[in-house]
Amino acid sequence: MYYNVPVVGKVHWIGVNDRRKRLFENIWPLDRGVAYNSFLIIDDKTALVDTIEDRAAGNYIERIESLLNGRSLDYLIINHMEPDHSGEIKEIFNHFKGVKLVGNAKTFKMVEAYWSIKDNLIQVDDGDTLDLGHHKLKFVMTPWVHWPETMMTYDETEQILFSGDAFGSFGALDGGIFDDEINFDFFEDEMRRYYSNIVGKYSNMVQKAFAKLKGIPIKVVASTHGPIWRSNPSKVIELYDRWSRYEAEEGVVIIFASMYGNTEDIADYIGRKIAENGVKNIRIHDVSRTHISHLINEIWKYRGLVLGSCAYNSEMFPLMEQLTRELTHMGIKNKKLALFGSYSWNGGGVKNLKMFAEECKLELVAEPAEIYGKPNAEKLQQFDELAKKIAESVK
Ligand code: FEO
Repeated sequence: MYYNVPVVGKVHWIGVNDRRKRLFENIWPLDRGVAYNSFLIIDDKTALVDTIEDRAAGNYIERIESLLNGRSLDYLIINHMEPDHSGEIKEIFNHFKGVKLVGNAKTFKMVEAYWSIKDNLIQVDDGDTLDLGHHKLKFVMTPWVHWPETMMTYDETEQILFSGDAFGSFGALDGGIFDDEINFDFFEDEMRRYYSNIVGKYSNMVQKAFAKLKGIPIKVVASTHGPIWRSNPSKVIELYDRWSRYEAEEGVVIIFASMYGNTEDIADYIGRKIAENGVKNIRIHDVSRTHISHLINEIWKYRGLVLGSCAYNSEMFPLMEQLTRELTHMGIKNKKLALFGSYSWNGGGVKNLKMFAEECKLELVAEPAEIYGKPNAEKLQQFDELAKKIAESVK
């Protein structure tokens, strides 16, 4: 990338798009790429806020040098140590002699473990400040948003929140960088997928971060991923607030695991019956076809969840097991849940789905139901009540 973009006053965006990486954290598909945002403040003192993934670095150093225009880089502020943002720390440290790294105690433990850097460190804690001249920066510790060492940097002068992963999104910045330059419809799904996949597990910590930020005027939200919010920052703040409180939309996602099509037939029947009960947002997914990343996004989006599994070696189907394990790991909450399945030899699908529901303390809206053998009109009738109950529960 060969351009830098002014954000506000002396603050410049020097991020990059990554359309080559296929899997974020080697797990989550990047169908539309991802952006790594980094910011340079040219004031009486100069400061870089977060770096980028090293494999996407390109001419990053050159761009910083062009903005510095012969001046030195005084500070590198490290809000988060995950390598998509810390990837260029060693390069910056080696290239800009005398630069001071600004981070917290947990950050510096990792900086030493990664790059053996022990010098030129300025350790900050909650509420500490850094005066750049015009810009006065304040540091807010926000552990677990996204990982334990995470902090945010608040620019009191221009009221910019450099929020790290918080308020971020998957999706490359295809020309438009600011919220007023993009059609948000393109980003909303990718933003929720990012939230649910990456940050969702720590929703309670997101709420704690919100409590800390309460009352702070925010004109610009500058996350490390996705659009920069300068026209309507309250929109992204409200979305993250809603998602971290597990608030969802009216609708039901049905996810099935089926080997021979029997459980799939039940899923279609339940979907039809839910529609007859007046729910319009119904999504049916085959766990063997749709990546878990998209399934989790859909689960986060809709209030109702219906899981169905065939039996497999007296357990539930392995890919359904993987999904439920991930949901357990994420501490999924506030879902209206229904379960179904089928079996041909021994059972085990529904039995294990029930154990998942109990472990996650999710409310079952109806008694789970299971079919032996192939579904027919008579056998399917038992799912009428389940469909009615889940439809009522999500309205
Ligand atoms: Fe974008 Fe947690 O790294």
